[in-house]
Amino acid sequence: MSAPPKTVLDVPPEEAAAIVAAVLSADLDGLGAGRSLARPEDAADLAAFLSDPRVSDAIYDLPRPFTVATMRAWIAESEALRQEGRRLLILTREPTGEIAGYSCVSVWPERSAAELAGALSAARQSAGQGGSGALQSFGWIFKALKVRLIGLTAAVDNVRSEKLIDAAGFVRMGTRDAVRPDGTTRTSLYWEVTAEQWRARWGG
Ligand SMILES: CC(C)(COP(=O)(O)OP(=O)(O)OC[C@H]1O[C@@H](n2cnc3c(N)ncnc32)[C@H](O)[C@@H]1OP(=O)(O)O)[C@@H](O)C(=O)NCCC(=O)NCCS
Repeated sequence: MSAPPKTVLDVPPEEAAAIVAAVLSADLDGLGAGRSLARPEDAADLAAFLSDPRVSDAIYDLPRPFTVATMRAWIAESEALRQEGRRLLILTREPTGEIAGYSCVSVWPERSAAELAGALSAARQSAGQGGSGALQSFGWIFKALKVRLIGLTAAVDNVRSEKLIDAAGFVRMGTRDAVRPDGTTRTSLYWEVTAEQWRARWGG
């Protein structure tokens, strides 16, 4: 399961409350076209999308196996956590309706921190869209959700993620053992960036 960043910020209760409110009122249009919160009726499409190993193999914290039932449960859990200001499970659809990608933003309001996981459809991979979409997403997380820290993990052999995260200006902070939903662990590369570091590099 996703874990909060290694760095622990001192967060006053009013800041945590503002983050919860920001998650609840988040305008997904700032992420780009075709975004919506995952709804129960998306479960079958999401199961089909994630069943492609080129999409899902690298992501440790997805609920498996990819069935309509597990997806329904994940969507319901995500909506319950959204109500607490702790998660946004977001789908991007092609104009034709097919799922083009998903993002899962985990938020720890009391830590003023977030994490992003996601994937693009195989047809969209390795053409620069992940890099540009990730930059937009990171900027949006800082601005729209008002957190001060983002932590990220990637599998040690996920070259595209590694390049993309380095290029975005995240700071490498060694490794961490990420725990899968089945309790097994995966050693992951680990990065953080603060809102201050982000704005110094990218503005906003
Ligand atoms: C990871 C992912 C979001 C990256 O998006 P993408 O659109 O495929 O990647 P990009 O084309 O933007 O490329 C990102 C970097 O990898 C490089 N790259 C692209 N394809 C590559 C390949 N096949 N081999 C090595 N490097 C590659 C790019 O040159 C770029 O590096 P640069 O910034 O130094 O030029 C996407 O590949 C994906 O969804 N993968 C499956 C799920 C996944 O791994 N999710 C992330 C878990 S942390």
